[in-house]
Order: sequence, then structure tokens, then C-alpha cells
Amino acid sequence: MIILKTPAEIEIMAEASRVVAEVLEIVRKEVRSGISTDELDRLAEKEIRARGAIPAFKGYRNYPKTLCASVNEQVVHGIPSGRKLKDGDIIGLDLGAIVGGFYGDSAVTVAVGRVPEKIATLVRVTEESLYLGIEQAVVGNRLTDISHAVQRHIESAGYSVVTEFVGHGIGRHLHEEPQVPNYGKPGQGPRLQSGMVLAIEPMVNMGGSAIRVLEDRWTAVTADGSLSAHFEHTIAIQPSGPARILSRRVAGEI
Ligand code: MF3
Ligand code: CO
Repeated sequence: MIILKTPAEIEIMAEASRVVAEVLEIVRKEVRSGISTDELDRLAEKEIRARGAIPAFKGYRNYPKTLCASVNEQVVHGIPSGRKLKDGDIIGLDLGAIVGGFYGDSAVTVAVGRVPEKIATLVRVTEESLYLGIEQAVVGNRLTDISHAVQRHIESAGYSVVTEFVGHGIGRHLHEEPQVPNYGKPGQGPRLQSGMVLAIEPMVNMGGSAIRVLEDRWTAVTADGSLSAHFEHTIAIQPSGPARILSRRVAGEI
């Protein structure tokens, strides 16, 4: 069952998502050669709690940290550790927060220092695919109009879409119905309605789409070792017009 949110609930979700956006912006600015992913995790937790919010991932299905920090061939759910970043790495930062019982969820992929054009392009195309998906999140469309727009952009750039993980509805739970795949034929699935809140999150591999999960039971990596990028926003479908991006990052407003 898809749970529609009232305007008042959407304002609370906007608050949770704003915390995520602000903290992601703070953490991304600390990304540099020599910093460990654990240091980024500690910063994220401190900044979430400083805003009176609760880290959403810590303890979720026994996930041990606040942040997911997925480096290079890691697709999602990389567990922060003593691993130090180095120039030329890319890192996916995925963060969730709870405010007033409601969740916000967002992710960005950031380059460490300078990366070759080929790698920067993977990151850019992944982010573009997220915004193309969001453009489809309007009343009158169906769910897979989002999915199709994401997939089309990724595949036309020669990359592949990860199919094992999908976006999701979000609200009083981190994962609610519907699932939001990053692939599929357009015009299928439920009709989009005002009050639906979705986390749209393309995961894009430079090589093949296959992934495997490491021994730690969390870290997903590309099967072929190719690089992977991930972006995510929590969005609310509006009565008319484009979706409201609840987790929009506003640089310089923290
Ligand atoms: N953005 C991811 C998701 O929606 C992050 C979940 S990490 C977890 O699934 F630890 F909470 F599982
Ligand atoms: Co998510």
C-alpha cells in the first residue's frame, strides 16, 4: 500500500531531508586525499545530532554507521572504516535522518581531488539521470516513467543500471511502497499522485550491471571491478507541476 502524506507531514519530511542535505554538503566539503571514511562518518553523525535529528541508517537492520561511504567499485552500502581516501577516488556518500518520526534520504558521489574526464563523466551522467527521473515525477504519469527516463539516459551513455537495488517510497519508514526501479518500460505501475514521497536513487556502473555483496554482508561492489556512481533525492509529488526536491542541497546556506 502506498501511503500518501498530508501537506503537514510533507513539511516534516522536508525538515528531515533538509538536515540530510545540509549534512551531506558539510561532509562532501571534507572529502579530500588522506581523510578516512570513519572521520566522514563521525562528522555526519555529529552534524545530524546537532540539528536535533537521529541518524536513520545506524542500527537499521544492524547497519553499524551513520553514513554509507562507497569508494570506487563499491556501488552502495560501503561501511565507513579507517580506509583513507586518495586522489582520483570517487566516493558515494549516502545519508538518512529522522525528524519527528519521518525519514529523509539522499546521496551524492564526489571526486577526491582531480579525476580523469572519463570518471567525471560517469558521475555527471548519474546525477543527470536522477534529475531526468525527477522530471517524470508528476501527477498523470506512472511510476515507471521515472524508471525509464533514468535507464534511457544511463544506457545511452554506454553505462549500465544496477538492478539489485531500487529507489523506494519513504515516510515513517525508510523503505515504503512503491519500489522505484531505475529501469523498465514506461507507462507501467501505479499512477503518480500528489502526496507520494519517493527516494529516487540511480546506481550506475561503468562496466557491466552485475554486482556482488562482500563478506561484511553490506558492501555491494561491481562484479567486474568497474567504477560505480550513486545519487539520490527524496522528492514529493505536488498537486500540479514538478516534484518538490525535499533534499535539495543549497550551497552556502548552512
Ligand atoms: N539510501 C539507501 C537506501 O535507501 C541507504 C540504506 S543504508 C542502510 O536503501 F544501512 F540503512 F540500509
Ligand atoms: Co534510499
